[in-house]
Amino acid sequence: MLDQASQLRTQMGMRSMAAEADTAFAQSSANPAKVVAVASGKGGVGKSNFCVNFGIALAQQGVRVLILDADVGFANVEVLLNISPSHSLLDVLEGRHLNDIVEYSPYGLAFISGGNGLFDHLLMSSDDHARLVWELGKLSQMYDVVLLDCAAGVNEVSIRLVAAADQLVLVTTPEPTAMADAYAFMKLLTRRLITPAPQVVVNRAQSFTEAKQSVDRLTRVTSRFLDVHLETLGYILEDPSVSQAVMRQVPVLHHAANSKAASCYRQIASNFLRKDLQTPSLGMSGFFDRLLKSRLFGGGRDRGHGA
Ligand SMILES: Nc1ncnc2c1ncn2[C@@H]1O[C@H](COP(=O)(O)OP(=O)(O)OP(=O)(O)O)[C@@H](O)[C@H]1O
Ligand SMILES: [Mg+2]
Repeated sequence: MLDQASQLRTQMGMRSMAAEADTAFAQSSANPAKVVAVASGKGGVGKSNFCVNFGIALAQQGVRVLILDADVGFANVEVLLNISPSHSLLDVLEGRHLNDIVEYSPYGLAFISGGNGLFDHLLMSSDDHARLVWELGKLSQMYDVVLLDCAAGVNEVSIRLVAAADQLVLVTTPEPTAMADAYAFMKLLTRRLITPAPQVVVNRAQSFTEAKQSVDRLTRVTSRFLDVHLETLGYILEDPSVSQAVMRQVPVLHHAANSKAASCYRQIASNFLRKDLQTPSLGMSGFFDRLLKSRLFGGGRDRGHGA
């Protein structure tokens, strides 16, 4: 399994070489982390649990994972990991070093709180954010994957965060409302000229057959009406262990390591390591660079980073 992790690092490093030309900072980034936005149309479909347990499953395979809570104001990941960070990325804008604000959970995950209002600030303010971008570039060297736990819904901040990421994991459940909102999310996202490669995770499925049928339905409509090809990252079965784990504030991978859900998260981590290495990575500095450019150029039609 460690071989897969080092393969991931090597491949990401190789791909980053081409991407490095895109930003001045990336020219000094030998092997920046891949930024993966975890988003959904409908709320409550399992994004935060996905970030935490998928992140732990990756960490168990030797991948260095950082979770960035981009659903600021709700702090789901903090609650799930039972940690209370005293600082956030906002403090970096005020001069603090990133090393001071990274929290380490006992499960091998690093965590940063976005901080209340950070993304609104980044999107609306015309301040000089070079320092933040520079600090994030340094941090990128320390991780292989950065998972962004995004706020649910079809809103401009979420869409811009996703559009700036290297990769999108779109989480849905088989419920028609969640599927309709997932489609609406993709529809809004495709108004950007270039978006990250979308991959879908179906959570809370009663069976793998139901999960697959849901993906097939979503894939059919996105490819027919949006001309978007959705890849399948994996399926997570409905499992009462998840809510039991949430109640205890212990990730289900630790609370019930042999549960159905835990093995689904591990399977998805293996799928990710095996096949999801195709997108180029610019790291966190590249991510914020793109995010800021989407502000400056008024909506993400400025430039992109892979289809
Ligand atoms: N596979 C599962 N089986 C059973 N219950 C689940 C599963 N996944 C998630 N849940 C339940 O759904 C709840 C919501 O999950 P989570 O907080 O991860 O969703 P979210 O998408 O992050 O929500 P929000 O949009 O509000 O941030 C969990 O507290 C848990 O009770
Ligand atoms: Mg959440």
